[in-house]
Amino acid sequence: MGCIYIKTDVSKEEDVANLMKETYESYGFIDIVINNAGIILPEQLITDTNIKDYERLYGINVFGVVHGLKYAPKYMRDGGTIINTASNSANGDYAGYGAYISSKSAVVGLTKASAIELASRNIRVNCICPNTMDTPMAYAEGCETELKVMGITTPLGRMCKVEEAAALFHFLASDDCQYITGEDIYIDGGLKAGPSTQMIDCILKGLR
Ligand SMILES: NC(=O)c1ccc[n+]([C@@H]2O[C@H](COP(=O)([O-])OP(=O)(O)OC[C@H]3O[C@@H](n4cnc5c(N)ncnc54)[C@H](O)[C@@H]3O)[C@@H](O)[C@H]2O)c1
Repeated sequence: MGCIYIKTDVSKEEDVANLMKETYESYGFIDIVINNAGIILPEQLITDTNIKDYERLYGINVFGVVHGLKYAPKYMRDGGTIINTASNSANGDYAGYGAYISSKSAVVGLTKASAIELASRNIRVNCICPNTMDTPMAYAEGCETELKVMGITTPLGRMCKVEEAAALFHFLASDDCQYITGEDIYIDGGLKAGPSTQMIDCILKGLR
């Protein structure tokens, strides 16, 4: 079946509309859509916020997903699946990541709303919430806090490998999970479960 490349800026509604239309015209159907593009900003307290930075980030992380959810269903076959990439940050994160945290919470909300709206067509909509993944974003300038401490705060003590995240996308796109929709699924090495033993040890050492 091959593949095609369509240059798209997801923050631009007309680009995403064109992406879906051209894909449909090339293949005759769309079954799986992944709204994955995202950016992060250098750490910045909300009180020091540069509004233009927030607008740029929301344009990609939030409106990019809105555009995908708006235009994909028009061309998708009933029974298809949409997967959005949120983040463990949707559940809260370090000081300085307010723009990113709030954008990923919005992705979770959009996922749930869209899952309800598309259920009558049996189109499932879910999002995945990865902990720090070993991609260029993890090493973004100005975002060093997470990289420095995530091995301590995360119970499994390491980043998420891209293959591990890809396996979750693959599962959600497969026919094995026909009854899963509207979910935010964490792939976070145990972060959401509670404080890691190594973090508790660090705190206790500091208190001694
Ligand atoms: N890496 C992590 O630690 C981590 C953790 C949790 C969630 N995520 C999320 O995973 C997703 C993928 O990020 P990644 O880790 O591969 O980061 P990355 O920086 O390596 O890749 C991001 C991709 O998004 C693309 N992109 C940026 N702006 C775009 C735009 N306006 N239009 C189209 N494409 C655009 C970039 O070209 C790049 O290919 C993002 O939504 C990110 O927020 C990443």
